[in-house]
Amino acid sequence: MGKTVYFTASTVNGFLASDDHDLSWLLTRDIDQGGPGGGEEFFATVGAMVMGSSTYRWILDHEGADAWEYDVPCWVFTHRDDLPVARRNGRRGDIRFTRADVADVHAEMSAAAGGRDLWMVGGGDLAGQFADAGLLDEVIVSFAPVTLASGRPLLPRHVELELLDVARNRDFVVATYRVGKR
Ligand SMILES: NC(=O)c1ccc[n+]([C@@H]2O[C@H](COP(=O)([O-])OP(=O)(O)OC[C@H]3O[C@@H](n4cnc5c(N)ncnc54)[C@H](OP(=O)(O)O)[C@@H]3O)[C@@H](O)[C@H]2O)c1
Repeated sequence: MGKTVYFTASTVNGFLASDDHDLSWLLTRDIDQGGPGGGEEFFATVGAMVMGSSTYRWILDHEGADAWEYDVPCWVFTHRDDLPVARRNGRRGDIRFTRADVADVHAEMSAAAGGRDLWMVGGGDLAGQFADAGLLDEVIVSFAPVTLASGRPLLPRHVELELLDVARNRDFVVATYRVGKR
């Protein structure tokens, strides 16, 4: 079975986005997409992905509901019934809205991913729900050189991590952690 990896970017002080979901502090930074934390290498390992509804809505609002770029199934956690299904190349993206137990969703994702990794996109509380259930294996964070006074949290839990690797990618420090104590 593949790993479940929370792969994200953060401010140095642990925010994924500002309180009003602004990411300009991140998108203005320099990164090599082909380097560590840049995404190209990681995305090639991914067989399914999962996110919360704020993250999904951010993608639709900023990239367009017709420009879904992912070709692996994506589970979106929400209590709402009115979220649009994003489209890719003129067809409905493989997007599965859910409010089911995270363990059940993780099992569905694993079956769909066929041994490939599962990408926990965020937000932080959803990643925490997976961690609480013992379903998070790794955390890979690209830290941008900025702090925010407040914002959407990276991982609002007490989670013990083991540092596996540190790399620099232009403006970013990329830290790879295994979840749990050695
Ligand atoms: N820096 C980065 O690389 C990065 C990465 C990921 C995300 N982000 C940004 O960070 C922000 C994260 O937003 P956020 O903190 O609000 O987190 P989020 O996980 O994106 O969205 C939270 C929402 O997810 C739904 N949800 C979560 N757990 C659920 C459950 N067990 N059952 C049903 N629904 C559940 C709820 O939606 P409903 O209210 O619809 O029920 C909840 O309000 C976004 O702005 C996103 O764009 C940044």
